[in-house]
Amino acid sequence: MVTRFGLGLAAIGRPAYINLHRSRDLPGSRSVAAMRTRAHGLLDHAFETGIRYFDAARSYGRAEEFLAGWLDLRGLRGGAVVCGSKWGYTYVGGWRMDALVQEVKDHSLNQLVSQLAESRRLLGDDLRLYQIHSATLESGVLEDRGVLSRLLELSGEGVAIGLSVSGPRQAEVVERAMAVSVDGRNPFTAVQATWNLLQTAAGPALRAAHDRGWAVLVKEGLANGRLVEAGDAAGPLAQAAARHGVAVDALALAAILSQSWCDVVLSGAVTPQQLDSNLEALGVTFDDGELSELTELAEKPTDYWGRRAELPWS
Ligand SMILES: NC(=O)c1ccc[n+]([C@@H]2O[C@H](COP(=O)([O-])OP(=O)(O)OC[C@H]3O[C@@H](n4cnc5c(N)ncnc54)[C@H](OP(=O)(O)O)[C@@H]3O)[C@@H](O)[C@H]2O)c1
Repeated sequence: MVTRFGLGLAAIGRPAYINLHRSRDLPGSRSVAAMRTRAHGLLDHAFETGIRYFDAARSYGRAEEFLAGWLDLRGLRGGAVVCGSKWGYTYVGGWRMDALVQEVKDHSLNQLVSQLAESRRLLGDDLRLYQIHSATLESGVLEDRGVLSRLLELSGEGVAIGLSVSGPRQAEVVERAMAVSVDGRNPFTAVQATWNLLQTAAGPALRAAHDRGWAVLVKEGLANGRLVEAGDAAGPLAQAAARHGVAVDALALAAILSQSWCDVVLSGAVTPQQLDSNLEALGVTFDDGELSELTELAEKPTDYWGRRAELPWS
């Protein structure tokens, strides 16, 4: 059982990330202690708002460690919340803002075994969802029998198995994952993908996954902050937000919540104020035709992902 909103820790578990305006929203020190304090404050606030799903990854710096420490501090071990994490990328930023490389990808069985041990050492039985981080067709992970067999075993140990996808071929990867069969079974029961008003291409594949009974989690609902850029106040997004009496971030996230195939929207907020605004999305109901007008903002997948690839780590 999870909540419609989850809190993602990609932006708060390490000093640098690709979201816009981090210097505005994360002023002051980015030391380990400072980010831990921020993360615990945000986790406390999220818990108070009723959020019960928290999304981490091995590559999000110390996100798992911050989450585990918070569970211990608040006495929330043993199922009070659901923690999800991801394997496949290793954090190599060395807690430096200016590291040329922040994360390295490896979807091998050795990587799964070693990262699962690290995630379990920190999150224990509160690790309830384990996802391949940004699975692609090119990485070959969905053809790797060793990995798929270990994931099938893990699904038998009370951990739900998922994958996250990224890039212009998200839909193809989801479809390939749905066709996986190892010993006649498919280990996957959850998918995490990017869908937002600038990038809607994975919609049909996510609907098919949902109809297959998979949990569908949506990430990057604000296009890494691009959707909350001080855009054209006369634009359709700002106009619709004004009509509904909410901020643009809430309107954009409401568009995701209104997709019948969407189970969980991940907030990437880094402050309690941002999170409160994001949660206003729960109160938005779109008029007929309004959503189709808003999804006209969508960019071609190659353009969208090309722009994302240019976002600086800050
Ligand atoms: N491959 C993967 O598996 C993958 C990839 C990406 C994300 N994720 C998951 O999805 C989660 C969310 O995605 P995301 O953080 O990358 O992207 P996002 O949700 O599209 O963007 C979040 C950013 O938008 C800005 N923002 C949010 N609320 C705001 C508000 N009320 N007012 C102004 N700005 C606001 C903040 O950026 P600033 O404060 O910097 O302005 C925030 O960091 C992650 O934490 C992670 O759990 C997974």
